[in-house]
Amino acid sequence: MSANIRFKSPVLVLAAVVFAIGCKDRGGDGGGDGRHSKNHGPRGGDGEILVGEYGSMTGSTATFGVETHNGIQIAVDETNEAGGVKGRKLRLISLDDQGKSDEAVTTVTRLIDLDHVVAVLGEVASSRSKVGARVCQRKRVPMVTPSSTNPEVTKVGDYIFRVCFIDPFQGLVMAKFARTNLGLTKVAILRDVRNDYSVGLADAFKEAFGRLGGTVVSDLSYNEGDTDFSAQLTTIKTAGPQAIFVPGYYTEVGNIAVQSKRLGLDVPLLGGDGWDSPQLVEIGGEALNGSYFSNHYSAERATPTAQRFIDEYRRRYHETPSGLAALGYDAAKILFDAMGRATTIDGPTIRDALASTRGFDGVTGNITIDAGRNAVKPAVVLKIEGGKYEYVATIEP
Ligand code: PHE
Repeated sequence: MSANIRFKSPVLVLAAVVFAIGCKDRGGDGGGDGRHSKNHGPRGGDGEILVGEYGSMTGSTATFGVETHNGIQIAVDETNEAGGVKGRKLRLISLDDQGKSDEAVTTVTRLIDLDHVVAVLGEVASSRSKVGARVCQRKRVPMVTPSSTNPEVTKVGDYIFRVCFIDPFQGLVMAKFARTNLGLTKVAILRDVRNDYSVGLADAFKEAFGRLGGTVVSDLSYNEGDTDFSAQLTTIKTAGPQAIFVPGYYTEVGNIAVQSKRLGLDVPLLGGDGWDSPQLVEIGGEALNGSYFSNHYSAERATPTAQRFIDEYRRRYHETPSGLAALGYDAAKILFDAMGRATTIDGPTIRDALASTRGFDGVTGNITIDAGRNAVKPAVVLKIEGGKYEYVATIEP
């Protein structure tokens, strides 16, 4: 068991055990065959190819890390079953950053300096991807984030890629949806002020909603880890919005939903991909009925590629994959595809191959990497009803 995996709550024990089994992490291979030998190095010969992953397997965004890991693991197994990459088997080394930025730096540094991984997958949260990306860029190891949507992440440098859309688009999607589909004119915003993703998405929404003729009647903040939002919600109530845009992560959003209803604020919440967790409705319950959020895919609208993934995910994990799981799978598949096209397995060559990815048939849509190393893709809007997500619309870029 890796020292990096810590069990924080009983609910997460099972998920974390699955994670630990899946990742065959440090010290666990028993073979002692020199993971740090030349064969495993970035310019290595014909041994296993080591790929790193960092994510929040524990902490308040634990479902992000665990579900992403599950998707990545399916991609690794599938690729290995089909013969690996260039006849070499892939080995995934996954580390838990506990949802902390300083741990993100530590885990990425460890993956590169100690394990000599040839590429890194992760993180989910933009703030953590940004700091991890700086390490990858400095060491010229390609990083692919499955799901970080803040524009700054890939701007860190030419070794940093993503397979998802970015927040200026996601903000526009929800602003358009609020203005046009729901016909709203007055919306309040409640943002997680130290979270790059939340701030960026709130700004993008605000700009677009205003441009479309709407008014943001109140724009307030909270901090990740807060549990009492009554002061902000009371102020918001007096501003009389028709909806509240809450571009945060699921733990706080669930609590905000419950407390807003308790204060008699009977308006829907609107949000982004950070809502995507089974924990959201566990925490928010009925208070979330009639709320909407944008996301990367809907299992209700599956292409044949998506359906194959959904079937395999259900067979292994007994649940329908979230957008995170689907993006984890896509990020890994795109990386392995690039490695297959690269003439040699080293950082700069894999980087070039990643940059030339065009029209990749992913679970979350058709993926082309643009000049800014971002993916241009549609978003879906989902409605929450009775603890379930209903597909509402697909919005093209
Ligand atoms: N887009 C979020 C971020 O950048 C992360 C996220 C993606 C969370 C998808 C849930 C689902 O921080």
